[in-house]
Amino acid sequence: MPAVGIVPVGGGTEYPGKLTLYVLITCMVAGMGGLIFGYDIGISGGVTTMPSFLKKFFLSIYEKQQNDNSKNQYCKYNSETLTLFTSSLYLAALLASLVASTVTRKFGRKLSMLFGGLLFFAGALINGFAKAVWMLIVGRILLGFGVGFANQSVPLYLSEMAPYKYRGSLNIGFQLSITIGILVANVLNYFFAKIKGGWGWRLSLGGAMVPALIITVGSLVLPDTPNSMIERGQTTEAKEKLRKIRGVDNVDQEFNDLVAASKSSKLVEHPWTNLLQRKYRPHLTMAILIPFFQQLTGINVIMFYAPVLFNTIGFKNDASLMSAVITGVVNVAATLVSIYGVDKWGRRFLFLEGGAQMLICQAIVAACIGAKFGTDGDPGNLPKWYAIVVVLFICIYVAGFAWSWGPLGWLVPSEIFPLEIRSAAQSINVSVNMLFTFVVAQIFLQMLCHLKFGLFLFFAFFVLMMSIFVYFFLPETKNIPIEEVALVWKSHWYWSRFVQDLEVPNGGLEMGRGNIKTF
Ligand code: BGC
Repeated sequence: MPAVGIVPVGGGTEYPGKLTLYVLITCMVAGMGGLIFGYDIGISGGVTTMPSFLKKFFLSIYEKQQNDNSKNQYCKYNSETLTLFTSSLYLAALLASLVASTVTRKFGRKLSMLFGGLLFFAGALINGFAKAVWMLIVGRILLGFGVGFANQSVPLYLSEMAPYKYRGSLNIGFQLSITIGILVANVLNYFFAKIKGGWGWRLSLGGAMVPALIITVGSLVLPDTPNSMIERGQTTEAKEKLRKIRGVDNVDQEFNDLVAASKSSKLVEHPWTNLLQRKYRPHLTMAILIPFFQQLTGINVIMFYAPVLFNTIGFKNDASLMSAVITGVVNVAATLVSIYGVDKWGRRFLFLEGGAQMLICQAIVAACIGAKFGTDGDPGNLPKWYAIVVVLFICIYVAGFAWSWGPLGWLVPSEIFPLEIRSAAQSINVSVNMLFTFVVAQIFLQMLCHLKFGLFLFFAFFVLMMSIFVYFFLPETKNIPIEEVALVWKSHWYWSRFVQDLEVPNGGLEMGRGNIKTF
């Protein structure tokens, strides 16, 4: 049996420093960068089901939906134009994250965050006042640009700012904000949809200006990360900043490691082509597979379509919106669990536990839906207990995601790349994430129509694959300073053969730092 999980323990790299109030507040403010992404995920599904919105902008779709009397719940009328409109944001985000790579690297993490906030604000403004479809589309593209910039820079910012022992928890502030954004948006939709006169959608869409302002102001007051300051030549200021962040005077060892990381980073002129080098094979693999797998858990089927899904299994309109709120609350609460545990139990444990939990729930939900809806999709009258059981297992599934692939899908990529490729690799992570969010959103309804209850088994298959992948190929990174993560690849049973040329500041292993423990 190969040694699959490897952790350097103890052995010298105990940077002095504590969790200062300064760093805590800084990370909380920066983490709020996730609000814009979350708010949009939560708001758009609801808005595109508001009749007044559809009547104004997509009249033909509205009329077709009204005339759709089919009993087959698997194949309800579905408009590709409407989904394309919603998911156009993800394509814009994909493009923006590639541009953000250069901004983040050359001008600092903060500037990308600022761009993220401003673009999102502009998009929200245009959407809130939209009078024609073209305004909606321009607005959505701007929102997407905003998300691309923010998701590229915020996770990196957090992972660099945090003391390494608390890196997991502080980074997950980003995911926590995503989940809070989703929940708030769901609740707001619920109330705005009831506004007489049917202009509530303007508030829903325009409301995105609030989280946009939070990240915009945040990025103006936040300090830059020492890693990024050194990379941009501000060495003296960076040392001062590091002292302030860590709350101790003696930061020499960490500072020297950052400088060394930055030196090797400066040798790299083309981070993109560099990524193709053999020594970055594990990083490139993770930058692609982690976001791919995150989306193939099927989570956004729940996030985007929960009200529709709950409606299908027999909840009336209000009740199905309420159950969307319930999954939203579970999502937030379970994220708190991972904030508590990620630096104690480690990333691998959460990945594997969450994976098993999701797998079991998906199998049960598939069986429940299969039993009642069969293959013709006509369930007849559904008993109340049945709907409750399905909602319960969907909640347990959401909890499994929310303490594993949700936060770790952003945390792990942000901490495993060496400085020289960090920004570029993070852009790949965001792009792949956005691409597959787009794909899942775009084809979900057709897949449901064809695969029926088997759709849940389709996602379950991927959950199984990703768990096996994590077990064999993802090394543990808890409690390892960010610029020393290279060590874990060097001692990994599989990846070690690729990374022998990978530099570790101050020699890493040779300095006796890597007391390797295998399990
Ligand atoms: C994912 C989103 C998802 C959200 C749910 C995030 O980590 O990237 O696609 O909607 O979690 O909480």
